Amino acid sequence: MNEHPSPSDQTPQSRLSLFRNWTSLAGLTIVVASVFSFLLLFLIDTLAHSANPYIGILTYLVAPMFLVTGLALTAIGLLLRQRRFIKDAGAAPRLQIDLHRPRDRRMMGFFLGGTVVFLLLAAMGSYQTYHFTESVTFCGQACHGVMTPEFVAYTNGPHARVTCAECHIGAGAGWYVRSKLSGAYQVYATMANKYPRPIPTPIKNLRPAQETCEQCHWPKKFVGNLDRLYSYYLNDETNTPFTVRLLMKVGGSDPTHGPVEGIHWHMNVGHKIQYVSAKLEKDGRWVADETRQKIPWVRSIDAQGVVTEFRMAKFTNDPSRYELRTMDCMDCHNRPAHVYHAPNTAVNLAIQLGQIDRSIPSIKSNALWVLTQTYKGETEALQKIATTLAAKYPGDARLPRVIEAVQLIYKKNFFPEMNVNWKVYPNNIGHMHWPGCFRCHDGLHKTADGKQSIKASDCNACHVIMAQGAGKDLEKMNATGFKFAHPGDELDPNPQCHECHSGGM
Ligand code: HEC
Ligand code: HEC
Ligand code: HEC
Ligand code: HEC
Ligand code: HEC
Ligand code: HEC
Repeated sequence: MNEHPSPSDQTPQSRLSLFRNWTSLAGLTIVVASVFSFLLLFLIDTLAHSANPYIGILTYLVAPMFLVTGLALTAIGLLLRQRRFIKDAGAAPRLQIDLHRPRDRRMMGFFLGGTVVFLLLAAMGSYQTYHFTESVTFCGQACHGVMTPEFVAYTNGPHARVTCAECHIGAGAGWYVRSKLSGAYQVYATMANKYPRPIPTPIKNLRPAQETCEQCHWPKKFVGNLDRLYSYYLNDETNTPFTVRLLMKVGGSDPTHGPVEGIHWHMNVGHKIQYVSAKLEKDGRWVADETRQKIPWVRSIDAQGVVTEFRMAKFTNDPSRYELRTMDCMDCHNRPAHVYHAPNTAVNLAIQLGQIDRSIPSIKSNALWVLTQTYKGETEALQKIATTLAAKYPGDARLPRVIEAVQLIYKKNFFPEMNVNWKVYPNNIGHMHWPGCFRCHDGLHKTADGKQSIKASDCNACHVIMAQGAGKDLEKMNATGFKFAHPGDELDPNPQCHECHSGGM
């Protein structure tokens, strides 16, 4: 290569001489290689049947990164080279284009064509990159491990066809930038291994339900009553079945679409339910409860502006000193996409579905027992589940299927690497394993004149116990609701079910 061409040298070759430096050449090589790999990867990604998170990362993040690096190197090389010319000869070689010359015309055509192709590729690439960073693959699988619990629970939940971004990232440029900024921090935290395990909730930057859930679910819809069947098996030798059939009074909240009644009454379009969450410390102070599990004060403001205030007698503070939250969908449906089932719930379901054979003596309590032990990691857990159960029923041919089912329950609901399991994230929809509805409906929240919201002991207020028991009992229906026949001990007035039903019994 001619290192020091004289500036007056105007042979056609010398016009390209600015490119003749190692930096630019290396840059150009990277550009060509990355465009080529992008095209190849793009083809694989489009034609492949199953989405592979790594192909996505390579195609839409790594290849474009190399392309940009290559272009930057080329430019840096050019600049340095030009400086060198100026330093050596006082001027850089002048660029002369004469369209009368066939060679210049060809070069020009080539240049323009190249630019158009490049811009097209860049547009397509950045559009794909944008979509890729919003995809379930990127959010759920790319950061291997961190999001595994949420991803697995999501895949097994009713929202498996709704993308992560539809709930977690808002539409519009503002949310895009915000989510990418926090996303960039998350990528850093993941690489530096600095993220909390488990990830704490409620998540701070989750948008209000009006912007997430209500894109798809219309709050004015009248749902009416839902018939729900809950099947349980007791922890005795015969794994005695016990079933409750509940008619959930979900109702609705908009008078133009049905009566304003039932559980969705809280969402009444005309009124608001507001509350304060605070917990009582040992020293007698009420401090804000980030988890929203303790609610000592709540008020409803109806369409006419009439305020009804309910508080626990113990809470004598001024509520305005605490953050006031207006109830929305997520105060009840806080785990619409990521449910980690309690072992009791999961084992009951597996028995109901026949995956665990009910005829095996005490299989309910034994399956529960192996699931509630502490293990170092998934590998150890799966192994010990198998060996412990096998040892309890030596030679039983029904066991391999049971072991498989129990291991599957473990894999779907326990994530020791992230310290995630059913005990970690409160689920507010009912009242069995977490306080849920009984955070307010516990018989302790009263107005100044002693009026109460629904009491916990009013078992037929939110749902009607239409039938309960087993076998023939379930054919006896009661439209106004039975008194609950609790299989355990007699229940307190206003019971707190979660105090005994921790999910592991
Ligand atoms: C239907 C809406 C919805 C979808 C879809 C959804 N999420 Fe969530 N996600 C939520 C809500 C609501 C919470 C808050 C839970 C709470 O406060 O208890 C949450 C919480 C989380 C958390 C915090 C930790 C936890 O388990 O609570 C992570 C991490 C998360 N989601 C990741 C994801 C990923 C990854 C996807 C896609 C694979 C996804 N989410 C899809 C609604 C959704
Ligand atoms: C992008 C649309 C979309 C968004 C956003 C969305 N959902 Fe859904 N939701 C669905 C679909 C689809 C279903 C499944 C309906 C079906 O197949 O019956 C569903 C089902 C549900 C169900 C019934 C679940 C069951 O077990 O049967 C509830 C409750 C629900 N969503 C609540 C929420 C809440 C709360 C949010 C906000 C955090 C939300 N959804 C956000 C689309 C969405
Ligand atoms: C006071 C608590 C509460 C609030 C607030 C609430 N829901 Fe519900 N919702 C329930 C309960 C309880 C059910 C009964 C379903 C069940 O047992 O899983 C239900 C049922 C549903 C269903 C399922 C209906 C079906 O056919 O399966 C959807 C969808 C739903 N709610 C969406 C919403 C949306 C959207 C909002 C916010 C506008 C909202 N809910 C607010 C408690 C609530
Ligand atoms: C933040 C506190 C709070 C939570 C949590 C809560 N509620 Fe309520 N609920 C209220 C208040 C306040 C009223 C109104 C009481 C009144 O005015 O008499 C009410 C009223 C009701 C009503 C009566 C509606 C009507 O037709 O008049 C039902 C049913 C109900 N709640 C069910 C539930 C269910 C089910 C849950 C759990 C999924 C739940 N609530 C969770 C505060 C709460
Ligand atoms: C404030 C409203 C409310 C009151 C009062 C109430 N429940 Fe419920 N209950 C619910 C809701 C909502 C669910 C549905 C939870 C879900 O969708 O998983 C539920 C679920 C249940 C279940 C099934 C739980 C499970 O997850 O296996 C049983 C059993 C039950 N209730 C019994 C009772 C009994 C007994 C009482 C009276 C001591 C009572 N409930 C009082 C709202 C209420
Ligand atoms: C004082 C502790 C205690 C309280 C409080 C309590 N239970 Fe129970 N519950 C038990 C015991 C003990 C059993 C029997 C467990 C067994 O043999 O499987 C049981 C069994 C059950 C079962 C059937 C077994 C199963 O798989 O879950 C249901 C359903 C049930 N309880 C619902 C409730 C509901 C709903 C509440 C709150 C309204 C409640 N319990 C409150 C102790 C309690």
